[in-house]
Amino acid sequence: MNDILSIQNISVEFGGLMALAGVSAAITEKAITAIIGPNGAGKTTLINVISGSITPSGGAVLFQGRQISGSPSHLVAAAGISRTFQHLSLFRHMTVLENVMVARHIKTSSGFLSCSLKLPSSRRDERVIRQKALEFLEFVGLADQAHLDALSLPLGLQRYLEIARALALEPKLLLLDEPAGGLNPQEKETMAQLIKDIRGRGITVLLIEHDMSLVMGISDHIVVLCFGAKLAEGTPTEIQANEKVIEAYLGAAICLEESETNLGRDGSDAGNKPS
Ligand SMILES: Nc1ncnc2c1ncn2[C@@H]1O[C@H](COP(=O)(O)OP(=O)(O)O)[C@@H](O)[C@H]1O
Ligand SMILES: [Mg+2]
Repeated sequence: MNDILSIQNISVEFGGLMALAGVSAAITEKAITAIIGPNGAGKTTLINVISGSITPSGGAVLFQGRQISGSPSHLVAAAGISRTFQHLSLFRHMTVLENVMVARHIKTSSGFLSCSLKLPSSRRDERVIRQKALEFLEFVGLADQAHLDALSLPLGLQRYLEIARALALEPKLLLLDEPAGGLNPQEKETMAQLIKDIRGRGITVLLIEHDMSLVMGISDHIVVLCFGAKLAEGTPTEIQANEKVIEAYLGAAICLEESETNLGRDGSDAGNKPS
């Protein structure tokens, strides 16, 4: 199996705090790799480096053999990497469909200006863009909500919409930052299936997630971060049996999940679990 992404000795410093201190990892093509670890471990920072929103102070990221670290986000997206956000970032005052169409506009050559002038060719483009956008909404199960205001959707469905928007860029690598954060158990199950379906389309997935049953159920490989460093990596079975990981993270995460199950809670604070 080939590696699509090579993370090489990445360091990120925020005013004296080492958010990442020399992290290396290889991400296998067409597989699901999860990054887990306590809050503040540096997971989101790593995704920010890969997606081009942070330039690392040291190290390099190679995507399909080419260095992308230090490139601006739009070039990273054009190279085939798209993402969702831990704190959702949907476009306001736009419908569900328009949120996905914006991504298709970015993907296709006709920009907003030519479309707003209603040139004949761009009217045709607009129909194609609308049709394609609808296909991605269909894929995540949101086609029936296409004409609703995006921010009127419940949080769970907004997470699906962010994924549809990221998929509309037709990435080779999709970065998902806590896609199940705030979802109820039923929504989490649907999310797990959706992520597997994305892998089924041949897209590589890099997933940050706190819900351990979701992570263990769908991941091919897991990387554990702790205080900005890689603590361990391996298959779900290997990670679940790793004493260092249990001590630093899994023990607390599993206890929290059990207490939530016992209390019958819906996991709505999933994003803040193992703090
Ligand atoms: N923009 C920023 N400025 C300063 N500190 C930051 C910034 N982003 C993250 N951090 C700090 O870096 C560390 C890692 O954060 P983050 O990558 O968000 O962790 P995680 O996603 O694993 O919870 C934390 O201590 C956090 O407070
Ligand atoms: Mg985070």
